[in-house]
Amino acid sequence: MEKIPVAILGATGTVGQKFIYLLENHPTFEIKELVASPRSAGKKYAEACNWKQDRPINDTIKNIVVKSVEDSLESKILFSGMDASVAGEAETNYAEKGHIVISNSKNHRMDKDVPIIIPEVNPDHFDLIKSQPYKGGIITNSNCSTMFIAMVLAPLHKEFGVEWVHVSTMQAISGAGYPGVSAMDILGNVVPYIGGEEDKVETESQKILGTLANGEIKDADFIISAHCNRVPVFDGHTENLTIKLKSEVTVEKVKEILSTFKGIPQEKNLPFAPKFPIIVFDENDRPQPLRDSLLDKGMVTSVGRIRKGTLGDIKMTIMGHNTIRGAAGAAILNAETYVALGYLN
Ligand SMILES: NC(=O)c1ccc[n+]([C@@H]2O[C@H](COP(=O)([O-])OP(=O)(O)OC[C@H]3O[C@@H](n4cnc5c(N)ncnc54)[C@H](OP(=O)(O)O)[C@@H]3O)[C@@H](O)[C@H]2O)c1
Repeated sequence: MEKIPVAILGATGTVGQKFIYLLENHPTFEIKELVASPRSAGKKYAEACNWKQDRPINDTIKNIVVKSVEDSLESKILFSGMDASVAGEAETNYAEKGHIVISNSKNHRMDKDVPIIIPEVNPDHFDLIKSQPYKGGIITNSNCSTMFIAMVLAPLHKEFGVEWVHVSTMQAISGAGYPGVSAMDILGNVVPYIGGEEDKVETESQKILGTLANGEIKDADFIISAHCNRVPVFDGHTENLTIKLKSEVTVEKVKEILSTFKGIPQEKNLPFAPKFPIIVFDENDRPQPLRDSLLDKGMVTSVGRIRKGTLGDIKMTIMGHNTIRGAAGAAILNAETYVALGYLN
């Protein structure tokens, strides 16, 4: 099969680099175009980019001349890791021109006609793009902290109904992009504030777990309270959850439901699908970002310390790779699912 040409928007950034890294030798997609800011446009990628990945830039990618958002693109699918200050308008323009934009940015996530997709959880929400006024379309993935919360809540909500969730996050510095938080602020420290993050964590899961009917999503009706913290970890967001459910649960039942959860990406054996999207640990001291964030290509949500709660019904610690399953890897799996379900024409 001929590969589908794709472009990376925000190609020089933390998420953009991860797209380039992960898409090397992808069986379905081939990077043909790269877009970044006017600072980078017109330069060869290797000159424009401050490459931070653990293997050198691929020779073909190195020599691609970076475009600006003003330039037209030939690729049908555009993976976006653009800075939020420009992503809103730029992604709309691309969708109007007929491109399918698969975005990591926050700008369109809460638009009524834009789905936030986790393909194991709500692949039916792809249909929402039929309500969009564009020749192409915009599909988003969630905020990098929401990803792991919504993944775990999905099977629990289906089985028991979620009433409320309390979450406290410990988020890696790579989540702030490059150069991100100053070393003077984060080394040996915890910063108890990440601008705009708590709003996203408190609202996105309800949309993802909502019901699509008549071209609209009715949000799921649970409440989330979030505390978001930046911690001196390089990659991998850890989150402590307390969950109140609508019916009786046991720890063993929760472990069984989470560890057997699967969706369309697993059924269709898609290239970026983890074997199981959730891995449950029995060890008391796991998951840990240093040891577990790259499990199964960095595409899993690791869960541990599942136990009875004193306030809610159940407590647990969850963790996942923020720039892979929380960003670029999530978008790639969204695109693979979109194509596999026959949406790309
Ligand atoms: N980091 C994560 O873990 C994570 C997770 C989920 C979602 N996100 C979201 O993904 C997006 C990118 O995040 P990041 O961490 O990769 O940020 P980043 O490292 O700061 O990269 C930002 C990218 O946007 C480009 N850009 C800036 N101004 C532009 C313009 N006027 N036109 C076109 N491109 C422009 C930059 O290009 P230059 O290099 O040329 O300036 C760079 O490629 C953000 O919206 C962020 O919220 C990030």
